[in-house]
Amino acid sequence: MTYLLALDQGTSSSRSIVFDERGRIVAQAQRELPQIYPRPGWVEHDPREIWRTQLATAQDALREARITAQDVRALGITNQRETTVLWNRRTGQPVHHAIVWQDRRAEPACAQLREQGHAAAIQAKTGLLIDAYFSGTKLQWLLDHVPGARDAAEAGELAFGTVDSWLIWQLTGGKRHVTDVSNASRTMLFNVHTNQWDDELLQLLRIPRALMPEVLPSASDFGATDAALLGGPIAIGGVAGDQQSALFGQACFTAGMAKNTYGTGCFMLMHTGSRFQKSENGLLTTSAAQASRSPEYAMEGSVFVGGAVVQWLRDGLRAISASSEVQALAESVPDSGGVMMVPAFTGLGAPYWKPDARGTITGLTRGTTIAHIARAALESIAYQSAALLAAMSRDAVAAGGAPVSELRVDGGACVNDLLMQFQADLLGIPVVRPAVVETTALGAAYLAGLASGVYASTDELSALWQAERRFTPTLPRSQAEALMARWEHAVAQAVLPG
Ligand code: G3P
Repeated sequence: MTYLLALDQGTSSSRSIVFDERGRIVAQAQRELPQIYPRPGWVEHDPREIWRTQLATAQDALREARITAQDVRALGITNQRETTVLWNRRTGQPVHHAIVWQDRRAEPACAQLREQGHAAAIQAKTGLLIDAYFSGTKLQWLLDHVPGARDAAEAGELAFGTVDSWLIWQLTGGKRHVTDVSNASRTMLFNVHTNQWDDELLQLLRIPRALMPEVLPSASDFGATDAALLGGPIAIGGVAGDQQSALFGQACFTAGMAKNTYGTGCFMLMHTGSRFQKSENGLLTTSAAQASRSPEYAMEGSVFVGGAVVQWLRDGLRAISASSEVQALAESVPDSGGVMMVPAFTGLGAPYWKPDARGTITGLTRGTTIAHIARAALESIAYQSAALLAAMSRDAVAAGGAPVSELRVDGGACVNDLLMQFQADLLGIPVVRPAVVETTALGAAYLAGLASGVYASTDELSALWQAERRFTPTLPRSQAEALMARWEHAVAQAVLPG
C-alpha cells in the first residue's frame, strides 16, 4: 500500500493526516495552537509552537497508522495563509512572533497605499484589494519595528515566509527556502500573471528581495525531510494555502467549479481556469493550486462570521450549551418565523464591504422564540454564502462564462443537513458533500501524490472524488428569491447611517 502524509497547519491547530492512495483517511493527529493577543486587533502565533505542534502531529499520525517514513511516498503541506514569519537564516530562530492573517496592525500602512492611489495597479498585478489581511504590509511592519531587522534583512541574514515556507525550512533542516504559487499569491508582493515576485511592489513596500523564498508550482520538489525528524527522509511534493488546497481536494480543476468551506468563517472559491478574472463585485482573484508551471486562477470571497454565529448562540446568548445542539433547536420550529439575523459582528465582507455594519436581528414578533433566533442564526450562514455565490456567478457571466452549477461543500458545519438543504434551496443549484470532508488535507496529499507519480493526472483525482450526499433544491425559485430579497433588506438595516 502507498501512503501520503498531509500536514495541515491551521489557525487554531496543527493536524496531520495519513491517506492511502485512494484518498481514504488511515490515521490523524491534532494539537491545539496557542493564540497570542498582545493588543486589541493584534493576533500572533509563536512560530516555534507552530513547528513543535506540527512535527508532533506528523510523528503521532505515522505512529497511529503503524507505518514508517519508508511507507510514505510523499508529504504535502497545507496551511493558514498570509500569516507572516521572519527568521534568522543562520540560527533558524524567528526574530518575532508570527503575525497572523486576522491581525489588523498594518491597516495604517494600507490606508496610505490606498491614499497614494496604488489600489488599481496592485489589484491588476496581484488580484488583491489592498488590505492588512495580506502578508506584504505585515512584513513591512516587522522590518520597521523589530530592532535591527531591516539592516539584517538587507544584509541577507533573514528569511521571510508564510507558514508553509517556515515549516519546509524546519523540515529540511534549513536546506530549502521555498513556497508555492498559491501561498505567494496571498502576500500582495506576487505577480500572479508572471508567477514571480514583483520588483515594483517589493520596492513600494520597501521589502529587500533577499528575504523572499523561491516560488514553485504547488506540485514540485520542495526538498526532503531531515531523516532524524520522522524516522527517515520523506519527499515534500505538495504545498498549497488551505483554501486553494480545499479547492484542489474537492477536485475543482476547471472553470466554474466552486467549493465553500463552512468553518468559523466561510471561504468560497471558484476556479476560473487559466483566465485571470478581475471581479466587479468585490471578490479577490487568487492563484489556484498549480500542478504545472502554467498559471491557474480562482475567485475568492469570504464570510467573516459563519459557524462563529453558533458560538455566539452558545457563549453570548447562552441559547445552547454545546454547538451540536443548534440543529435540534433550529429544527424544533418549521422556519425562522420571519426572523432574519445578520451577524455583522465585525462588519460585512464581500460582496457588501461594509466594515461599519453591525449585527442585526429583524422581524421579531411576540411569538418569536429562541428557536426562531437559532434558526435565523443558522440560516444567516447560508444567506451570506448565497450572496457570495451570486456575486461570483455575476462575475463569471460578465466574463463570458456560465454561472456556477453546483457547490461542493466542506468544513465543520457542512455536516449540518438542515443548513445544507437550506443552502441548496436558496442557491437553486445542488449542494454536494463529499465522502471525505477533510478536503484541505486531501488537496495537499493529492498534490504530493502528483509530484511523486502516485497519480498521473488530475483526471485520476476527479475519478477518485466521491459525493456522500447531494442536496437538491426543493423550494420554488420565486420563494427563494423572495427570501433573498428579505435578506438584502435585513442587510440594509445592519448598515449604520452616515
Ligand atoms: O486566509 C486565512 C485562511 O487561510 C485561514 O484558514 O482554516 O486556518 O482558519 P483557517
